[in-house]
Amino acid sequence: MAYKIDDFVYDVESTIDTFGVNVEMEWSLGPKLKLLVEQGGDLTSQGAPTLGSTGLPGRLLHEDTSGRFKIIVARFPSGEPTPIHAHSRWGLECGISGRERFTVYKRLDDGSDDASSTLEVFSDHHIERGDLGYWYDSPRNIHRQWAEGEEPSCVVILMGGDGGRDGVFDVDRGIFRRS
Ligand SMILES: [Fe+2]
Repeated sequence: MAYKIDDFVYDVESTIDTFGVNVEMEWSLGPKLKLLVEQGGDLTSQGAPTLGSTGLPGRLLHEDTSGRFKIIVARFPSGEPTPIHAHSRWGLECGISGRERFTVYKRLDDGSDDASSTLEVFSDHHIERGDLGYWYDSPRNIHRQWAEGEEPSCVVILMGGDGGRDGVFDVDRGIFRRS
């Protein structure tokens, strides 16, 4: 029997119930998200159409009624890195198509002064179909991504909370601008 979006939603709910929100929860959902890409049909035509933060079309596959998570499909353009941005919560993604560069950062300062912020790279790798990428609650809630090659990257993302962004970093000047 194929593993569909409803099966994944059930697994996300029960895994959060079992573990709470932590690394064990995220890591145990990684293989399930991979299974969804393998067996869940064409995710780029399911759910509701959206216009993502990149300006490229995406999909909203599921939004938790109590605001614990949402599941989307997003596309990132080739050669145009997103700003280095902070999400309010954790997340993980799995590649559907294209080749994405996915870099996660950790904020080293205590966050009390946004005019003097310091980041270091926490993980930096590529995501192709079936590959996973994770970020975490603060201070490892910061990332950027873009596609390498001709086509946009397309990924399915499980986002903690409402998936919102807290703001973007100007790394050269050490400034965090809250949105
Ligand atoms: Fe993001």
